[in-house]
Amino acid sequence: MSGLTDKRVAVLGATGAIGSAILGELHAAHAHTLAFARSPEKLASLSKIAAESYVVDLHKPEAWEAVVGANAPLDGLVIATGTLEILPFSVLTPEKFAETLGTNVIAPADFLRCLLRAKKLNTGASIVFIGSISGIRGAAGHAAYSASKSALIGLVRTLALELAPRNIRVNLISPGLVDEGMGAAFRAHVTPEQFAAYVGAYPLGAGSTADVAGAVSFLLSPAARWISGHDLVVDGGATLR
Ligand SMILES: NC(=O)c1ccc[n+]([C@@H]2O[C@H](COP(=O)([O-])OP(=O)(O)OC[C@H]3O[C@@H](n4cnc5c(N)ncnc54)[C@H](OP(=O)(O)O)[C@@H]3O)[C@@H](O)[C@H]2O)c1
Repeated sequence: MSGLTDKRVAVLGATGAIGSAILGELHAAHAHTLAFARSPEKLASLSKIAAESYVVDLHKPEAWEAVVGANAPLDGLVIATGTLEILPFSVLTPEKFAETLGTNVIAPADFLRCLLRAKKLNTGASIVFIGSISGIRGAAGHAAYSASKSALIGLVRTLALELAPRNIRVNLISPGLVDEGMGAAFRAHVTPEQFAAYVGAYPLGAGSTADVAGAVSFLLSPAARWISGHDLVVDGGATLR
């Protein structure tokens, strides 16, 4: 028993590789799933695992404010959106840097603030952000992405304190590379040999979106009722080295 039966849980970025795996896991746990994503076509493909679907583009707040206002309060929210552009620091313009921080940190925080102000998170709700191990260790070409994921660690710790009086928990999952979504984009950026060496350095071998989804499900569940402000690293032991 997951303890998520009939809980209203929304996944922002539900159309992504990790977001759709999380949505599927929640559906299997009999949660009442809400898919939030910006592409109506991709949202339509999730109809079997999404009880409700809403178009949400993080850079169009006037549109998502209406979605938030029209919805009943949530018991859980997963923020699985993100962007990654691999660029050497020497060519990382302030505009590109701000774009990554905007999409990965500031816009999701704005979305959450909107939910809180509209009182759309129930007492006992659980919020899970998806970070990355790039937030806790460096990677060449990842300056903006790493900075954005590190920022989530500070954001989550602070929100956990601010929301504890309302019995709302806030946690972060920092996954290692999985070979889908952004992981597949990374594979396309390097040679097959480099990719094999990268994944070969993971002590437990390659991971999958299901590994991330399982950890998210745990943090959303009542089994994690005393866990808040935590960064749960899900990386097959990669950051132990
Ligand atoms: N895959 C990995 O190996 C890996 C490893 C560590 C951490 N992560 C993190 O996991 C999360 C999901 O990654 P993923 O691999 O699933 O990537 P993905 O397949 O590219 O999914 C990214 C999701 O973010 C959405 N998105 C991007 N910009 C948006 C915006 N302005 N408004 C609304 N939605 C927006 C995308 O929507 P569209 O479908 O419309 O583009 C998509 O649903 C990210 O935070 C990523 O940093 C991934």
